[in-house]
Amino acid sequence: MTSSRVGAKRKVAVLGATGAVGQTFIRLLADHPWFELTEVAASARSAGKRYQDATRWIEGVMPASVADLVIKNSRASEISAQIVFSALDANVAGEIEEEFASAGKLVLSNARNHRMEPDVPLVIPEVNGDHLALIDTQRAHRGWSGAIVTNANCAATVAAVAVAPLHQKFGLEKLFLTTMQAVSGAGYPGVASLDILGNVIPYIADEEPKLEREMLKLLGRLEDGAVVNGSFAVSAQTNRVAVEHGHTVCISASFHDHPTPDQALSALRAWKGIESTHGLPSRPAQPLVVTDNADRPQPRRDVDAGNGMTVTVGRVREDTILDLRMVALGHNTIRGAAGGSVLNAELLAVSGRLPAE
Ligand SMILES: NC(=O)c1ccc[n+]([C@@H]2O[C@H](COP(=O)([O-])OP(=O)(O)OC[C@H]3O[C@@H](n4cnc5c(N)ncnc54)[C@H](OP(=O)(O)O)[C@@H]3O)[C@@H](O)[C@H]2O)c1
Repeated sequence: MTSSRVGAKRKVAVLGATGAVGQTFIRLLADHPWFELTEVAASARSAGKRYQDATRWIEGVMPASVADLVIKNSRASEISAQIVFSALDANVAGEIEEEFASAGKLVLSNARNHRMEPDVPLVIPEVNGDHLALIDTQRAHRGWSGAIVTNANCAATVAAVAVAPLHQKFGLEKLFLTTMQAVSGAGYPGVASLDILGNVIPYIADEEPKLEREMLKLLGRLEDGAVVNGSFAVSAQTNRVAVEHGHTVCISASFHDHPTPDQALSALRAWKGIESTHGLPSRPAQPLVVTDNADRPQPRRDVDAGNGMTVTVGRVREDTILDLRMVALGHNTIRGAAGGSVLNAELLAVSGRLPAE
């Protein structure tokens, strides 16, 4: 795939560029065939410094193209790119992202703030990429030429990819999710080492309600310019564990059509995701793979599947109370954050929905 499919490379900026997700954006955008990273922004604490001086870099080798960029303030008036990836802290993301959208920019956000607003798409491209059409409703409602597009909470992303093929074929009725979430999900520096080493913390602030409400929107249907939420029941329990990257989700579910494990496995293996995402640069060949190994998926072995964009599902078996249970694993800062956002931008590019330069 080359830039020829969408014309010349488009200039993009990253807000929150110094944080955990911001750094993943920088790595993924460094050699992107369609986008050129030209600006980075963060808080006033970092603004004015060279990127390499302001950032505690944790993503391998820092791309040379970003090292000397001077960090800007996260203000629309300071950023010239029309396409902006946001990895801002949720305490400030809400207002800043609105400022950028009302200034005509397309904001691809990782923050929770706007996800559940009825005219804001909450999208995992292979699952519900058609929901991106909501930005037409958003522009009409809000009278701005820009837009805000969000990707889901990182654990909700893993769970939604894993159950989407089953929901589409058998109709979810009840869903129990129990997560084991990596420390990188808390940003940098995140959880104190003395709290997490050798430990499990059975609480992540606001995480359970986020999972419960986002699953309904992600697996909902777009009808007449609005999302009709999924009508199943969801209960989530979330835990922070001493893993660097990769959220694991134990799933138990019941369905209208009561699939057997073999029927579920066939549906999971056959699922390729929405057609319009096939061939996009950040889309893995398989958004979901099923492992037959009894002791997988495991973060250490499976988190980098599909360059961090593939969700691995295993242990698909009958449940003693509901119909099925299984385990899913995905990379939280790639599939669950920056990589998902870049894939959203690619799908917007091929659907002709990027703002003019
Ligand atoms: N980590 C994950 O796995 C994950 C997954 C999905 C979604 N998310 C979401 O993605 C966002 C970023 O998460 P993260 O884990 O990367 O957090 P993080 O490591 O704490 O980084 C936060 C970023 O926000 C910037 N920032 C903080 N206060 C600011 C202000 N007043 N004005 C402008 N910028 C400010 C920081 O810049 P300075 O360095 O200048 O302070 C930093 O670049 C959050 O909304 C988070 O909920 C995270």
